[in-house]
Formats: sequence, C-alpha cells, structure tokens
Amino acid sequence: MLESLQLAPPDPILGLAEAYRADPNPNKISLSVGVYKDADGKTPILDCVKEAERRLLADEPNKAYLAIDGLSEYATLTRDLLLAKCVEESCAATVQTPGGTGALRVAADFLQRCVGTSRIWVSAPTWANHGSVFGAAGLAVDSYPYMDDSSKGLNLDAMVASLSSIPAGDAVLLHACCHNPTGIDPAADQWGRIANVIRERDLMPVIDCAYQGFGDGLEEDAAGLRRIAGDGEAIVCSSFSKNFGLYAERIGALTVVGGGPDATAAALSQVKACVRANYSNPPKHGGAIVSIVLADRDLRSRWEREVADMRTRIRDMRSLFVEAMKAQGVDRDFAFILNQKGMFSFSGLTRLQVDQLRNDHSIYIVGSGRINVAGITPANVDQLAAAIAAVL
Ligand code: LMR
Repeated sequence: MLESLQLAPPDPILGLAEAYRADPNPNKISLSVGVYKDADGKTPILDCVKEAERRLLADEPNKAYLAIDGLSEYATLTRDLLLAKCVEESCAATVQTPGGTGALRVAADFLQRCVGTSRIWVSAPTWANHGSVFGAAGLAVDSYPYMDDSSKGLNLDAMVASLSSIPAGDAVLLHACCHNPTGIDPAADQWGRIANVIRERDLMPVIDCAYQGFGDGLEEDAAGLRRIAGDGEAIVCSSFSKNFGLYAERIGALTVVGGGPDATAAALSQVKACVRANYSNPPKHGGAIVSIVLADRDLRSRWEREVADMRTRIRDMRSLFVEAMKAQGVDRDFAFILNQKGMFSFSGLTRLQVDQLRNDHSIYIVGSGRINVAGITPANVDQLAAAIAAVL
C-alpha cells in the first residue's frame, strides 16, 4: 500500500533548519527558523525558567495526566496576560495547548466541526504553515492583501477593501504583533479600522499571538488583539515558545471569547471535545514553568526584564544590519527594516538570491526572503552584509 508514496517536499522553514545542521561550513549563518539567539549566537534558557524548573523539580507532586484543558492556573494567567480583563471573566475561556501551532490546529478543528466555518482568510504573505494547518482541518484558505511592496509598510486600504468583500461567517486570521513574515504591524488607529470591518461583516477573527513582548512591549503588543477581542467574539491562539524561550516544551494556548457566558461555556466544551479527539490532553512541563513564573512577583519581573533584553537586542541588530549594508555601498536602501517589528523582516531578496546565499555562502534564509533578525550578531553581520551585497 505504501509503495506508490512520493517524497513529501521539505518544510519551507523547519526543512532549512535540517539543511543548516547538515552544512559542514564552520562560518554558516542561520536566519531561517524563528528562534532567538543572543549576541554569541546561542539560544539561551531564560534565568526565570531555570529557577522555575528548579522549584518544579523540588516540589512537583506527580506526573499524572492533566485535564483536557490543561492547568487551570496556567489558563487564568495566560488569559490575563493576553486580554488584561478587556473581556468579562465569564466570556473568555482558555485551554493549554501543545505550542501555538497546536492552538491553531484545535481552533481550525473547532471552526470547521463545531462552528460550521468553511473558509479562513490569511494575510498575503503569512506564516508558511498557516495554510497547511487550516487546510488539514478541511477549511478552504484564501488570502487578503497586506503589504505595500514599494513602501514595505502596511497596505491598509487594500486590506480593508478585501475584508469588506468577505462573506459573513468566514474566519479571518490576524497576527497580534510582529507579523510573521513581514514584521509589519498595524498602528493603533489601523487596528480600529480592522476591528470595525470585522464586526460590520460579521467575520470570526482568529488572532495568532506568538511574539508578545518582541515588538514594543508586553502590553503594547496586545493592544490590537484587545481592541478586537474587547468588542465581540474572537479566537486567540498564543504561544510561549518565543517570549519564554520554551520552543521545545511546546507550550501555547487557545482562548475563546464568546458573546456571553453560556456561549463561552458551550464553546469551551466543544474545544475540549476537539482536544480529546486529537492529543487527549496537553503536556505539562511548559505550562507548569509559565505558571510558576507568572504567579510569582519576583520571577515575573525577572521574566519581563529578560523579554525586554531580547527585544532590545533584536532592535539593535536591525540598526546594525542596515548600517552594515550601507557600508557595503549597495544601491538598495534597507532602512525599511528599522520600521518592522519582532523577529522577522521581509528582506526583498528574491528566491534566486536566497538560493545563492545558501549555496555559495552557507547563509540560510526562508525562500520568501524572510530573515530572522534575531539570528544576526555583531560577529556575523559583516559576513552577512558582504554576502548579500555579492548576490545583489
Ligand atoms: C517560524 O516561523 O520560523 C517559527 O514559528 C517556527 C516554525 O514552526 O515555523
């Protein structure tokens, strides 16, 4: 039965990480998968996480299954971090999920099976895995315009015009902050226009929040999602992979904002049925770490400082990169990168240039031209800039 199977194509992001690992060049540079690196090119374990793990090791009472929706303290702390009480307590419910991707997949199943949604609209471009996740649940995936190619900023008019023509009942995927892959986020007034069209058209917002704290700050980065969730139904899929550095622990959450307490309770029960039919109940370790940190005043402020440090380093690397490109004397102005937020920027490099960077310089960038700015360091920026200048 399996003889006729063809090889699946490598994943556009994680496939590159495999190729990078196999590359013997000691000077290779990875700017592909969205993982934070410090100035030494290492992905650190946060101090607050180390301390939480120490406490967990000393005190953890058992390894019994969690409930289908995970740790209840984790759910409350996560919901507060995302929504900050912009929604009545009884109108929002959170389940712990294996990573943000797990949350997206459960949201997709919930929309398709329980809500009867048949289509989701995603920004063009969006994270390379969004289409696969929603498609795997049986939703049609369509796109709305997002980026203005010439200014490398948001094309809000085109976006709103497109959202205005979407049939009622369809879902719309939005990035809460640090848009992946462009780094282009709506400003506060622009979020207002987006929220208005979503409500006028009776669309279901699905908000992917994977980088809270990496843009302007933990509160600032949640402003758009609070604007949307504060005035009606919404689904928020969030992740602690990046802002806690808990990539391998697969820790995320799905938060449903219902129109009222009964609708929210019903939605939660249906989400739990989707979880039970998928992975049954979530893994515990990441949720336990996050709960310990967020519930403890000292650990929480240590975490906030560590997030601020990561954010500042990424911003510094944006400036360093732009300066290094200028120093190469290339015609192209990369200053637009300074206005983009979070880990990623859309460099404008073509597929051919990306391939040349990989084949001739051992520099790994996603085929779309997305670069992980967090992979740039003072030690590799000149090598990177020289290689980009060469392929330009
Ligand atoms: C990314 O966009 O690089 C990350 O979110 C990692 C992934 O799973 O693709």
